[in-house]
Amino acid sequence: MAILVTGGAGYIGSHTCIELLNAGYEVVIQDNLCNSSAESVRRIEELAGKKVKLYEKDIRDEAAYDEIFCENTIDAVIHFAGLKAVGESCRKPIEYYDNNIGGTVKLLQAMKKHGCKKIVFSSSATVYGSENPVPFREDQKVGGTTNPYGTTKLFIEQILTDVQKANPDWSVILLRYFNPIGAHKSGRIGENPRGIPNNLMPYIAQVAVGKLPYLNVFGDDYDTPDGTGVRDYIHVVDLAVGHVKAVEKAQKDSGVFIYNLGTGKGVSVLELVHAFEKASGVHIPYKIAPRRDGDIAVCYADASKAERELHWTAQYGVDEMCADSWRWQSANPEGF
Ligand code: NAD
Ligand code: WQD
Repeated sequence: MAILVTGGAGYIGSHTCIELLNAGYEVVIQDNLCNSSAESVRRIEELAGKKVKLYEKDIRDEAAYDEIFCENTIDAVIHFAGLKAVGESCRKPIEYYDNNIGGTVKLLQAMKKHGCKKIVFSSSATVYGSENPVPFREDQKVGGTTNPYGTTKLFIEQILTDVQKANPDWSVILLRYFNPIGAHKSGRIGENPRGIPNNLMPYIAQVAVGKLPYLNVFGDDYDTPDGTGVRDYIHVVDLAVGHVKAVEKAQKDSGVFIYNLGTGKGVSVLELVHAFEKASGVHIPYKIAPRRDGDIAVCYADASKAERELHWTAQYGVDEMCADSWRWQSANPEGF
């Protein structure tokens, strides 16, 4: 029995493959490598000491699924594959809807055809929009996304919910990630953004290795303790372990289950900068810049449902997240 991991060569997918292999699962990766490399799959094998099958195939490629499902006994799918850059999604909405939603529909058709009924999906805290009070809870109203990327997550959650309703023996697990950062302890795999990073941690890490001159802090006039934006940063290995727990849940119960994966703690931009400086011993110059369009002031999870139902809680704090991001970035300044 194998787990099909779409997008398994990417940042969160690669860490999850290692945790799946460590837990004794067989892993099959489907990834077109549009935002990752085969080297990351080689390193997954190196770190886990086990082989992984890689299908370099697009999730929109119908024919690929017959190959994958016929050559392997796929018990469940963890679906990471998708485009994820918020700003790019505003410039290229058609590509985002085609890739993320079109690709998911093709995947679901193949699962139905081949009798695979368990799926764990990478959703995002972005589905809570800007109107809900923090901490975000799974039973709050979703919607009001401010960019096509976020809207793909919202729509896919709805599509999966509809599919489960029509097929009550399916298990659909929607994992709403908060802000994943950090890297595997070995420093061998980590986040490898193409071009100038959009997200805070990879930006800080690239300032630290001298690839970028300084950090722009987007706004210091929010209603937060130091005026900068507050987020719930979660170690990518904690997130990966959450997926193993979700697969276990899918094996036991049918239905739609939604879980926040966060620490439940808010950390400001400047707190993260200072924690990174402490962990790395490197000074991070920054300048205060205007607020970034679409940003909210504060975002953090109520993570108690995952604790109650999945028996999962985040183990790592911000200091370890920074130390591990730094180990990866300093050992691999050019990525893979
Ligand atoms: P990533 O870009 O590192 O990984 C995504 C992987 O999917 C890449 O390896 C890419 O090559 C692959 N891919 C993209 N389109 C594909 C297609 N059409 N066919 C086959 N493979 C394709 O991103 P990540 O940070 O690991 O994110 C994984 C998932 O989690 C994404 O769905 C993302 O939207 C979601 N997510 C990420 C974050 C975050 O901050 N990183 C937060 C919330 C949700
Ligand atoms: C964090 C904080 C910025 C960069 C995004 C997506 C979300 C999810 C996770 C996928 C904010 C500030 C950032 C910089 C800064 N992805 N910042 N200078 O926006 O919370 O979430 O990634 O689902 O959907 O929107 O993450 O890392 O971009 O920003 O000051 O150069 O850092 O304003 O307060 P965000 P982020």
